[in-house]
Amino acid sequence: MLKFPANFLWGSAASAPQTEGHALLNGKSATTWDKWIELNPEKFNEGQGPKDTSNVYELYKEDIERMKEIGMNSYRTSISWARLLPDGKTVNEEAVAFYRDYFEELNKAGIKPIINLFHFDMPWWLMEKGGWETRESVDAFSFYAKTAFELFGDLVEEWTTFNEPLVHIECGYLYGFHYPAIVDFKKAIQVGYHTLMAHIFSVKAFKEGDFKGRIGIILNVTPTYAKSESKEDQEAKNAADLLVIKSFLDPCVLGVVPEGLIELVKEHDLTPVTETGDKEAIKNYPVDFIGINYYQPMRVEAPATKRVPALTTTDLFAPYDWPEKRINPYRGWEIYPEALYDVSIMMKEDYNNIPWYVSENGMGVADEERFMDDSGMIQDDYRIEFMEEHLTQLHKGIEAGSNCFGYHTWTFVDCWSWLNGYRNRYGFYRVDLDDDNFKRTMKKSGLWYKELSENNGF
Ligand code: NOJ
Repeated sequence: MLKFPANFLWGSAASAPQTEGHALLNGKSATTWDKWIELNPEKFNEGQGPKDTSNVYELYKEDIERMKEIGMNSYRTSISWARLLPDGKTVNEEAVAFYRDYFEELNKAGIKPIINLFHFDMPWWLMEKGGWETRESVDAFSFYAKTAFELFGDLVEEWTTFNEPLVHIECGYLYGFHYPAIVDFKKAIQVGYHTLMAHIFSVKAFKEGDFKGRIGIILNVTPTYAKSESKEDQEAKNAADLLVIKSFLDPCVLGVVPEGLIELVKEHDLTPVTETGDKEAIKNYPVDFIGINYYQPMRVEAPATKRVPALTTTDLFAPYDWPEKRINPYRGWEIYPEALYDVSIMMKEDYNNIPWYVSENGMGVADEERFMDDSGMIQDDYRIEFMEEHLTQLHKGIEAGSNCFGYHTWTFVDCWSWLNGYRNRYGFYRVDLDDDNFKRTMKKSGLWYKELSENNGF
């Protein structure tokens, strides 16, 4: 039996835009997602957008009962910026009532809310002004963060500023998957810098206010593995580490932007515009904890040609198809649980053994109804196996002294996932999209999770 530390957090993660529904109702203004689906519905799987998510806005109380049913002691979701402050300044009282009741109910049920502030959902009014490209976004976000701490600080003890900041940067400005879907490395770096400063000034607001609890950030850390020991492949790995791991971990935990990153962006003429006082603020406001989302590693090799200046990241490191990789046959992603052990050791050795938790880990499966038994339950043994393998590696990391305090899965109830809609299911509960009220049915993994949390191990 693998036992986890006392008070270990067992739970799941989700986000406001992926679950709430009521996308343009109850005083909420539009986000980039609400606008994009209007402009280009063909980009979205089956034309499903934020309006088609699982209606947590109305069903949160029932969902909290389900969380209890599978033994969760914690849950992460986010506040919708565009719901709380529809014009960026005026508080929407309906949103306050909704979130207060939601968080109160979680607390009453003994489920610790971990509340995140930004999950890829840029308000449209700000996007029209340039979104994260403008310095105004830093002040606008810090104002929103401070407002949230003031309104909900008595109910929430664990705050995070951003979920996977690299995703809105890369997908929006390098790979074309999120609005505005452009390819512009220079803008991507500027967007990244403003995101970092928005995080830093929100941590400052939290630390300067009289708020209880802790503040952190959730990062998608994809450990990198080079094809070979050759100088070129190692250089590619180094560039990948700087951009996908250290770019946020170093300033958020250690209080410095790595010198190597500053040099790399300079060499490629990508240096962002900064302001006096930024460096000092980065130094003064490290986080209290880190959340790490882990799904799959990154295999890299040297790019075929080295373009200077780089036009996108693939000019710095190329994806490498590792011949021995195990694949999730229902989603295509690599399965490599060993990386969670490597992450544990990295957090211990390179990041002062800061408290951290696995804020997302999970297995997406397409056409999951093929695994439904006669009683209507999805027999998702593949998901149980996936999680047990990852937990085994995490346990090994904790035994080696890593300061990990929890394991959250993605996700609890199948949820809408951006352009993919409901194509890949991740939940412990299946959502029936043909049912008007998104009927939820527990999968086999829900029963397994209950046993896991009750035994604090498996
Ligand atoms: C990461 C993100 O935080 C979430 O929004 C997404 O749906 C899941 N991973 C699954 O891909």
